[in-house]
Amino acid sequence: MASSTPDSRLAVVTGGLGGLGTGICRQLAAAGRRVVALDLAARQERLAAFRRELADLGDAVSFEPADVADFDACGAALARIEAAHGGIGILVNAAGITRDASLRKMTPRQWQELLRVNLDGVFNTCRHVVEGMTARGFGRIVNISSVNGQTGQFGQTNYAAAKAGVHGFTMALARETARKGVTVNTVSPGYCDTPMVAAVPEEIRAQIVAGIPVGRLGTPADIARAVVFLAADDAGYITGANLPVNGGYFMSF
Ligand code: CAA
Repeated sequence: MASSTPDSRLAVVTGGLGGLGTGICRQLAAAGRRVVALDLAARQERLAAFRRELADLGDAVSFEPADVADFDACGAALARIEAAHGGIGILVNAAGITRDASLRKMTPRQWQELLRVNLDGVFNTCRHVVEGMTARGFGRIVNISSVNGQTGQFGQTNYAAAKAGVHGFTMALARETARKGVTVNTVSPGYCDTPMVAAVPEEIRAQIVAGIPVGRLGTPADIARAVVFLAADDAGYITGANLPVNGGYFMSF
């Protein structure tokens, strides 16, 4: 089993093949971490593109298939990762989906599918890594929430509930692990240039962009910047926090 020195800690990024996830993998690797992207086995085309996009990082980034909605599959995948690479020091939960519909049209299936990935997925991974992190006395967990968990959004009762839930989970787990060298924080992106946001109807997206003080969508690199900051070895006094990265779209104290 490989050992973890501070500059070569092992990071797992769920949704690692996704819009934000790929940018997060890139910046963690650039910061000297060994990175495993965890995502659905079915995304073969996306996996090929991911490998091309991150080819310059060599073997610092690898891929492990798993569905975050499946507790046992997460346990098996995380065990395989630890057997191959050593203890996980950093966990970034970036796997997420949308199933937008106003509540009057939302089906139980749209509700359940979203909650299983966006909220259960955070439990399913954290539950398997937390004991190893606390036993080793080091961990950085960064959960990706959303500005829409803070403000709500028309058509997103499911997504807003899950994303607000992610921060509640974060604060509770942060308390449980604070004395063991493990921090747990949330990053809340605003609207970013990703396939998820590209799927929002053009007219609605234009209105949203017009309301962003910085005047543009965020980039995956904007979000990754915040994740790498919270995952740093010397970020040990920041825990249970939410770091908004939204171009000023929602400001709060
Ligand atoms: N605000 C206020 N009213 C709205 C509205 C809005 N955003 N969207 C629709 N309405 C109004 C319509 O004008 C219409 O009014 P009338 O009945 O008076 O004509 C009514 O509500 C239509 O209601 P429906 O239930 O029929 O809604 P719909 O099926 O037409 O569309 C929707 C609902 C699909 C959710 C659509 O509004 C939509 O796609 N909204 C965008 C949701 C969004 O921003 N998702 C973010 C995805 S990206 C992401 O989540 C990443 C992240 O973290 C930021």
